[in-house]
Amino acid sequence: MEVALSPVREVLLWGLSWLCLYIASRYVLSKSKKLPPGPSGWPVLGCLPLLGSMPHVALTNLSKKYGPILYLKLGTSNMVVANTPAAAKAFLKTLDINFSNRPGNAGATYLAYNSQDMVWAPYGGRWKMLRKVCNLHMLGGKALDDWQPAREAEMGHMLRSILARSRSGQTVNIPELLNLLAANVFGQIILSKRVFESEGEDANEFKEMVVELMTTAGYFNIGDHIPSIAWMDLQGIQRGMKKLHKRFDEMLTRMIAEHQAAAKKRAAPDFLDIVMSQRDNCDGQGGRLSDVHIKSLLLNLFTAGTDTSSSVIEWTLAELIQNPKLLKQAHLEMDKVVGRDRRLKESDIPKLPYLIAICKEGFRKHPSTPLSLPRVSSEPCQVGGYYVPKGTRLMVNIWGIGRDPEIWDKPLEFNPNRFVGSKIDPRGNDFQLIPFGAGRRICAGTRMGITMVEYNLGSLIHAFNWEMPPGKESLNMDESFGLALQKKEPLVAKATPRLALHLY
Ligand code: HEM
Repeated sequence: MEVALSPVREVLLWGLSWLCLYIASRYVLSKSKKLPPGPSGWPVLGCLPLLGSMPHVALTNLSKKYGPILYLKLGTSNMVVANTPAAAKAFLKTLDINFSNRPGNAGATYLAYNSQDMVWAPYGGRWKMLRKVCNLHMLGGKALDDWQPAREAEMGHMLRSILARSRSGQTVNIPELLNLLAANVFGQIILSKRVFESEGEDANEFKEMVVELMTTAGYFNIGDHIPSIAWMDLQGIQRGMKKLHKRFDEMLTRMIAEHQAAAKKRAAPDFLDIVMSQRDNCDGQGGRLSDVHIKSLLLNLFTAGTDTSSSVIEWTLAELIQNPKLLKQAHLEMDKVVGRDRRLKESDIPKLPYLIAICKEGFRKHPSTPLSLPRVSSEPCQVGGYYVPKGTRLMVNIWGIGRDPEIWDKPLEFNPNRFVGSKIDPRGNDFQLIPFGAGRRICAGTRMGITMVEYNLGSLIHAFNWEMPPGKESLNMDESFGLALQKKEPLVAKATPRLALHLY
């Protein structure tokens, strides 16, 4: 038997059903649009003040409280931070294409010729063209092999320089020499010349400029996150960048002009010759490189490769000096495999598993770029059950992942043995160790970076015994934050030769 409802009750029932439906749909929608957890921060500035002077440490601590994927409001912009291997994999592998762009920022505008370079280029044709050119002629496997004599020759200069200091009773400033070495290796490959003949004012000025570039580009600039007040340049970052850019631009313009003037003297074409000769069709598909593209590419190659590779070597050597037992073990392996009647060669490295383990441990504990380089989402997406809006910046906490006790046993201990016999590799597939990032925008110089770290550190270990400077009992291992993580106090050490003098 049907019960007839009064018209008023019928309307009420309808209204109630619609209300339930509305609430349920809002609930489902809000569930699917649930942002990852994170602190609420301050009015206007959001979480910017929480980052402090060591953002990689602050973000690691926040992730302990909020979880592996952090969401932070920074001014008017949004940022997610991946703090575990699974989170890094979700962003850099599963959602790689969505996060293949880099966000606009003052560094890209004022230092990198308004993103005309490769590092800050939007994901697209020009970026692909620049990567292809670099791969083919400088950073890919075949090109890397072709330039091996340049690396060996520069190593000779560095070893002799250390020997001279050692014989005159002086200590060695490691980062100074490593930067000189890296800059000259790039100079030989790109311009067929050593850009700095010896250590001294010019080389030190270049190193200071690179460090300044890496440091300022790593700052959280208020103007990047609150664009409406960027013109005020509250931290003075943009002013400093413009000044620094002028110095780099003058240096690069001079380098290119000198290179052109010396064209007839070159026996074989170098990287710049090849790029210049192919600039009108450098990717085989009609892609053209302007003068600014070429200058900004050189800027990338000279800066992205010097400080990054030398800082991880400096940190790792400092760890070995603090742990003489580990250094001794490395020496034993060198003596067994290479011997002491010749210098180390790059071809020895695959036979030196302990050296390789030392380098991996260096990459784990002291990754050169602690928060990688920022990416930005092109579309909204879902990650780990959370909603990430379009235009959200992504930082991957490489430093925090390398020191996570859930992943690594006693992570603060420098213990290369954890990598002996391990298949974990730093080339972007094992997300617990990603010093070069991962995915489409993985470091363009990954192969070269690994070669430089293994060969340069291996040569320093093979050719010398290393100790603290006289009178010192421990080294200051404090960090100084930037795009690349500097050692606050440069490593200065005492070197004693291990080879016959004529071998240097
Ligand atoms: C130990 C040495 C190095 C380390 C640890 C390192 C680390 C990194 C990292 C983490 C990124 C960001 C990757 C991402 O977004 O996922 C990057 C990008 C880049 N690196 Fe390196 N790097 C090193 C050496 C080099 C060298 C030797 C070069 C070239 C001479 C180089 C050139 C670049 C360039 C051009 C990019 C931007 C790639 C792009 O956006 O497509 N790096 N590097």
